[in-house]
Amino acid sequence: MLGLRLCVALIACPLFGYCCLPDSFQVLDLSHTLSNESLRWPGGSNFSFTILTRGWQNNNSFWLELNKFDTPEHIGTHMDAPAHFYNKGWKVHEIPADRLVGPGVVIDVKDKVVKDSDYRMTPADVESWEKVNGPIPKGAIVFMRSGWDTRYPNKTLTFNTNTPDNESTFHFPGFHPDTARWLIVNRNIGMIGIDTPSTDYGPSPNFEVHQIISNASVMGLENVNNLGALPPKGFIVTVAPVKLFDGSGGPVRILALVSKDGSGMCTANSAGHLMLFWAFAFGLWHVLSSLWKICIT
Ligand SMILES: *[C@@H]1O[C@H](CO)[C@@H](O)[C@H](O)[C@H]1NC(C)=O
Ligand SMILES: *[C@@H]1O[C@H](CO)[C@@H](O)[C@H](O)[C@H]1NC(C)=O
Ligand SMILES: *[C@@H]1O[C@H](CO)[C@@H](O)[C@H](O)[C@H]1NC(C)=O
Ligand SMILES: *[C@@H]1O[C@H](CO)[C@@H](O)[C@H](O)[C@H]1NC(C)=O
Ligand SMILES: *[C@@H]1O[C@H](CO)[C@@H](O)[C@H](O)[C@H]1NC(C)=O
Ligand SMILES: *[C@@H]1O[C@H](CO)[C@@H](O)[C@H](O)[C@H]1NC(C)=O
Ligand SMILES: [Zn+2]
Repeated sequence: MLGLRLCVALIACPLFGYCCLPDSFQVLDLSHTLSNESLRWPGGSNFSFTILTRGWQNNNSFWLELNKFDTPEHIGTHMDAPAHFYNKGWKVHEIPADRLVGPGVVIDVKDKVVKDSDYRMTPADVESWEKVNGPIPKGAIVFMRSGWDTRYPNKTLTFNTNTPDNESTFHFPGFHPDTARWLIVNRNIGMIGIDTPSTDYGPSPNFEVHQIISNASVMGLENVNNLGALPPKGFIVTVAPVKLFDGSGGPVRILALVSKDGSGMCTANSAGHLMLFWAFAFGLWHVLSSLWKICIT
């Protein structure tokens, strides 16, 4: 099976320019640190971290640290599983592993958010991104960048209100429900993510985006960090929540693999061109030798 896959990759790489192995790549961390400063929606339970053991053991022969932590699922940089807003949706432990990795895309609407902190990213924003960058790939993890990560973990700045314990006073940007629907219906995306506390904008009364994505088995990522360090496309994202039984979501480590030479993680690279040359040379030799055989018989 590995042989077959390698063979397909070797053929696909030069023929279709679909190469996913650049010479070198860097790993970017898109998560905020989880701690007792992490932000969560008001009304939930508290995060706590407790030291159980921290010291030299057995007459100073070795050092030992053990802690425990108690955490709400929806805190800090976290994932919303489809079960969060859809009663038949996947719980965290049921999400197939191949849905936790995908090509990443960043749609930057920071300029619009500066003028309107309740901005909702529209299908027109996605269309203008596609005019420059091409269509969003199937299974993509689509990030909306508002620039909100620099406010985190300041509670009044992140929820953008002087009464951050009253959710009716929240003002931060999010996805427009039409955009979530458009991405699901027209692009068959895998996940959406945002640098604010919710995929729905602050004033949302009924979390329509949450309902739409949950029902479509699309995961949501909230309080994502560091989106400004990413190119608009051409990188791979891995989303790793703890495989929590029956979870409706949970804190996640989100990592982006970005090629160092600026080429996409899934586009032709120099190795691809080299193989294309050899494939061409081999094909030519094959044709010529066949002709020769026909000629001499
Ligand atoms: C948060 O954790 C730090 C470091 O352990 C501690 O000093 C601080 O008191 C904690 N704050 C709260 C509100 O628990
Ligand atoms: C969480 O901690 C705050 C401040 O320490 C406290 O006032 C509140 O009662 C706690 N909430 C819960 C649900 O334990
Ligand atoms: C602990 O280590 C010290 C120094 O190596 C040694 O003198 C002492 O006997 C040890 N005590 C025990 C209970 O093993
Ligand atoms: C949060 O930001 C506000 C407004 O800039 C500031 O007044 C406040 O001191 C900050 N809070 C913390 C905990 O840094
Ligand atoms: C929360 O804010 C809303 C809108 O400003 C207000 O109508 C409501 O009374 C506030 N709730 C509380 C408990 O303060
Ligand atoms: C959920 O999706 C199904 C199709 O998968 C559709 O029939 C149904 O109307 C949707 N429900 C909601 C609330 O969007
Ligand atoms: Zn959530």
